[in-house]
Amino acid sequence: MNDRYAAITGWGMYVPERVMTNLELSTMVDTSDEWIRSRTGIETRHIADVREATSDLATRAAWEALHRADVNPDDLDLIIVATCSPDYHIPSTASQVQDHLGASRAGAFDLNAACSGFVYALSMASQAIMSGGASKALVIGAETLSRWLDWGQRDTCVLFGDGAGAVVLEASDRPSGLLSYVLGSDGSGAELLILRNGGSRQPPRGMMPPEGSLYMNGKEVYRFATRVMGKAAREVMDRAGLTADDISLFIPHQANLRIIESAARHLGIPMERVFVNVNKYGNTSAASIPIALCEAADSGRMQPGDNVCIVGFGAGLTWAAATLRWAPPEAAPDTSLPRRLMRWSRYPLARVKSLIHRAERKIDGFEDELERRRQLVERARRNGHHTGGAAGSNGHSPNGHAAASVSKVEEPEKAVTK
Ligand code: UT7
Repeated sequence: MNDRYAAITGWGMYVPERVMTNLELSTMVDTSDEWIRSRTGIETRHIADVREATSDLATRAAWEALHRADVNPDDLDLIIVATCSPDYHIPSTASQVQDHLGASRAGAFDLNAACSGFVYALSMASQAIMSGGASKALVIGAETLSRWLDWGQRDTCVLFGDGAGAVVLEASDRPSGLLSYVLGSDGSGAELLILRNGGSRQPPRGMMPPEGSLYMNGKEVYRFATRVMGKAAREVMDRAGLTADDISLFIPHQANLRIIESAARHLGIPMERVFVNVNKYGNTSAASIPIALCEAADSGRMQPGDNVCIVGFGAGLTWAAATLRWAPPEAAPDTSLPRRLMRWSRYPLARVKSLIHRAERKIDGFEDELERRRQLVERARRNGHHTGGAAGSNGHSPNGHAAASVSKVEEPEKAVTK
């Protein structure tokens, strides 16, 4: 029996300031507040500012979670960002967050399982802690899917919103955190919810909407979701030796109120034990479950010792479910002014540290370049004059294209002998 647990000791969320109502959408596309509310339960969603990228949302949520847990970013071993709308393809959003936080010891990577991503990431990070591979981890679900919507397509643009939610996990000997999990995928449904452009199958030309916008076959995804949610939840409860009656709170992915109600019916869980906030945020993909988890914790919907079931589904097609024992730290975080000041001062310091690292890298590169040129001048002086490209490579890259045929030696020599 494992006696090392991955307790959730901190949680935080962030949604962009800008709120978009159904009424506003009805001035942009042929839709109505009545249609959106009755078919989805969504009333408003938050949309990221043009200057806000996924890592910015993720960092804000992470700050809150770290403050609540009273964990210094330097003590983190692992950061996972679940997202399908990263800042860039390369590098990972998680590395950006690691830099923003100044989490200098942490490994960091992104995980893309679309709307199921947070449950996948939570399971992976919990396993890392339970196996002794890590002691403190930060798991974030963050999205800016609004960037990939075609705002002329009423069947998708009304559904999604932006946001981020984060949890801090810490090794604990108290039974808490992840009890069981189930991860699933059915790639035969890839075409049902897809962003076609920008990957290796369709290179990144015309990536911006409408050419590069999210496509969804809503009806098929709906059918899949209603089938898989109840099934995954049942499976994960069985694995933990729990029944629906043992679950104090069911936190499903917030995509559509009708899907949530259908899953609850299937499980025999009354809606009073189901957390719903899709009305406020719409579908925030990988961020939806951690945002709901934060709101449930802050509003007292989860009490110490409660069993909680979380279930996600989404593009892939993927699904994931987990049962958790809610057992936050007994002591509330120290919120005295000096402690708060100390915590907040870390982040401007992290910025400064990051700037120093960048400057150091530039100086190192500059020094290396100077040294290289000095050696070339030296060699040229010894040889009398340069070799005219004889030192060039054969110039073949692994994919068969001819590489640039300029000699590595020739170019800087030209520069220094001009
Ligand atoms: O995170 C994972 C992802 N996604 C989901 O969970 C979404 C799953 N699917 C759904 O939630 C639902 O299928 C939708 C909310 C997307 C659509 O609801 P629906 O009840 O399945 O509607 P529908 O697709 O059957 O469309 C019904 C009608 C259509 O018109 P006709 O063909 O009957 O004349 C649509 O063109 O509603 C029309 N319609 C709209 N009308 C007003 C579609 N979108 C809109 C809209 N406003 N925004």
